[in-house]
Amino acid sequence: MNTLGKTLGGALLALSAAFSGAMASANEFRLGLITPPPHIWTRAAEAFGADLAAQSGGRHSVTVFPAQQLGNEAEMLQQLQTGALDMAFMTVAEVSNRAPDFGAFYAPFLANDISHAGRILRSDTAVGMLAQLPAEVGVVGVGYGMAGLRQIVTRGDVTSAADLAGLKIRITPFEPNLDFYRALGAAPTPMPLPDVYDALANGQVDAIDMDAELIWLLHYYDHADTIIQSNHMMFPMVGLVSARVWATLSEEDRAMIGTLMAQHVDSTIDSYIGHEQGWLDQIEGTGKTYLRVGPEFFGDAVAQWNAIWETRSSMLGALREVAAATAE
Ligand code: BEZ
Repeated sequence: MNTLGKTLGGALLALSAAFSGAMASANEFRLGLITPPPHIWTRAAEAFGADLAAQSGGRHSVTVFPAQQLGNEAEMLQQLQTGALDMAFMTVAEVSNRAPDFGAFYAPFLANDISHAGRILRSDTAVGMLAQLPAEVGVVGVGYGMAGLRQIVTRGDVTSAADLAGLKIRITPFEPNLDFYRALGAAPTPMPLPDVYDALANGQVDAIDMDAELIWLLHYYDHADTIIQSNHMMFPMVGLVSARVWATLSEEDRAMIGTLMAQHVDSTIDSYIGHEQGWLDQIEGTGKTYLRVGPEFFGDAVAQWNAIWETRSSMLGALREVAAATAE
């Protein structure tokens, strides 16, 4: 078993011990997520459901609700807390709104590239952070997945970060991202994924913060003039089970569900490592103005972000050590 397997195994055993035992039962689980049906996260959720049904001999089933059918992530997290929803594949962004330690994952340029982001998420330090979720948020976190690194797509020409100042930039709704764009002097505009295409098309926003997969597959470049390949943040996801639901499961079911869900969320890391460059190449091939930039492009916004989050997340230093130890 690799280090990740051992760490997850240990974490899941500890979680099992922390909740009272329950008899094996049959369950029709509901799993919510915000991504559309063809998205890598949604396909991983479907594959998890199929494997759980097979491994439980049909005792358990999982119905997947993609594309915010059950509400946005804040609403789904509330449903997980009350037990109205059983499971979710959720952005760590939303979790960081309740457990600020997780904001450390969004340190600008923490990961040098997409493979490095994967190594950080698979570290013992990152996996260990999941142990705080039952007490802090009322959910059990079984493991991480991710989407691609973040890029910026703008209407109009941008040649420097000064051109971003004053622009309405769509962001995923979470504090670390708000702080980054505020530090740039932009007007960050929190907006859930399903609203993004129209908002960019009709000029409700001037720019979007997005990953390569969705820029390419959902045609976000259609109404853009400039693509800034900045790779400025990683974008982790976490597989969650309602702590209330977890408490009703037998130890055997917790181990089966936790292990299978962890495998499937983890599989998304390899998917992004495999596909990211191909999507970026295709986006560049559209003929839009394409800038490749590094931390220097953002001036002192990175230092400003670090100053804010050094006090808000107790895990920033530890994740930086992991990043340094896993850089190639
Ligand atoms: C976003 O809000 O940009 C996003 C959410 C989930 C997956 C990928 C992107």
